[in-house]
Amino acid sequence: MRDVNVIIKEKIEKFGKERQALMPILQGIVGDKNYITENDMVRVAEALDLSAAEVYGTTTFYTFFDVVPRGKYVIRVCKTISCHLSGKDEIIEALEKVLNVKLGETTEDKKFTLLQANCMGWCHRGPVMLINDEVFPELTIEKAIAIVEEYIAK
Ligand code: FES
Repeated sequence: MRDVNVIIKEKIEKFGKERQALMPILQGIVGDKNYITENDMVRVAEALDLSAAEVYGTTTFYTFFDVVPRGKYVIRVCKTISCHLSGKDEIIEALEKVLNVKLGETTEDKKFTLLQANCMGWCHRGPVMLINDEVFPELTIEKAIAIVEEYIAK
């Protein structure tokens, strides 16, 4: 895990100190340590001359910026209408059983976190889940379990 100040400095060199640097900085921090703390947000605010409230508001608006530690693999099942209608609840239920966690929880070994997320733009091929950055469309219960079991074996 890298020092947050180093990440901020690198991103400012690349994107400047204006507000448009905020998203790349947040992505850089979350990409490196998997989540972002309030302390990190204050440092980002200071670096960009923004209010801490503005950085906090942006961070918490996007479900992909985790503000608490997550597992190594974050599973996000789409909860929006098309995926809801095509069976996301059954997928979540099956994954809860396989991972032995409830939605929103992280496994004891810190390997998996199971979450829901808003539409990922694959509505025509739902239900859909993401595992970190990888998209898995057209899920069935069996397919979702097989995918997660592959990650368990990693
Ligand atoms: S509704 Fe699930 S990807 Fe759009």
